Amino acid sequence: MAEIEAVEVTRSYRMDGVSVDALRGVSLTIEEGDYAAIIGPSGSGKSTLMHLLGCLDRPTTGTLLVGGRDVGTLDDSELAELRNQTIGFVFQSFQLLARTTALDNVALPLVYRGVRRAERRKRAAEALDAVNLGHRIGHKPTQMSGGEQQRVAIARALVGEPSVLLADEPTGNLDTVNGDEVMGILERLNKERGVAVVLVTHEADIAARARRIIRVRDGLIEAVAEAPEPS
Ligand SMILES: Nc1ncnc2c1ncn2[C@@H]1O[C@H](COP(=O)(O)OP(=O)(O)O)[C@@H](O)[C@H]1O
Ligand SMILES: [Mg+2]
Repeated sequence: MAEIEAVEVTRSYRMDGVSVDALRGVSLTIEEGDYAAIIGPSGSGKSTLMHLLGCLDRPTTGTLLVGGRDVGTLDDSELAELRNQTIGFVFQSFQLLARTTALDNVALPLVYRGVRRAERRKRAAEALDAVNLGHRIGHKPTQMSGGEQQRVAIARALVGEPSVLLADEPTGNLDTVNGDEVMGILERLNKERGVAVVLVTHEADIAARARRIIRVRDGLIEAVAEAPEPS
């Protein structure tokens, strides 16, 4: 079963009586253990697509299956539950709580799941270990570099043991060294844990590391390029 399957999804935004067709009919399958990069010009619909794949938003028309379930048949709380079980989301701007320790930032999603405090702390510490931040659990985001903050954000996305990680320009605010470290961690999670990774990037050399490059333009998939099989 595919992790996520979008069939002819569209998303229109309505603002002040004007409609913007951000996605105009996109079909895309994310398989178990996939590693895909989404590229395309600014405004082409990449973030809109990521938000749909991540169940942060719903399609205007079309069908979206996540974990085999049609999101159109789910109410908001069922959709939130499905998202929590299946998907971890990483944002360009990290979106951490600034005055909260790394450990508590990472543990936060487990609060909403009703996990008890001791178990939350244990699992958050493990997730921070997995992003090489086991030595920084008591630090606050304001005391960390951008690369470290993004790794905390990855740990937070990981703590619920999702089968898919969606990352919207995860290296967009990072320098090359920190960007490389973040990419290394995403790739290790993909390889060693089989977590499917879908990321948006502007950088050709980052996209080239994925097994599949999906090019979006004007709300449509313009091309899909598969990487050659490793020999
Ligand atoms: N919340 C929103 N309300 C109205 N228009 C939006 C909203 N989000 C995105 N758009 C519009 O949808 C189009 C696609 O945006 P987006 O998905 O953010 O593109 P990208 O991530 O590729 O830069 C753009 O024209 C953008 O202005
Ligand atoms: Mg975007």
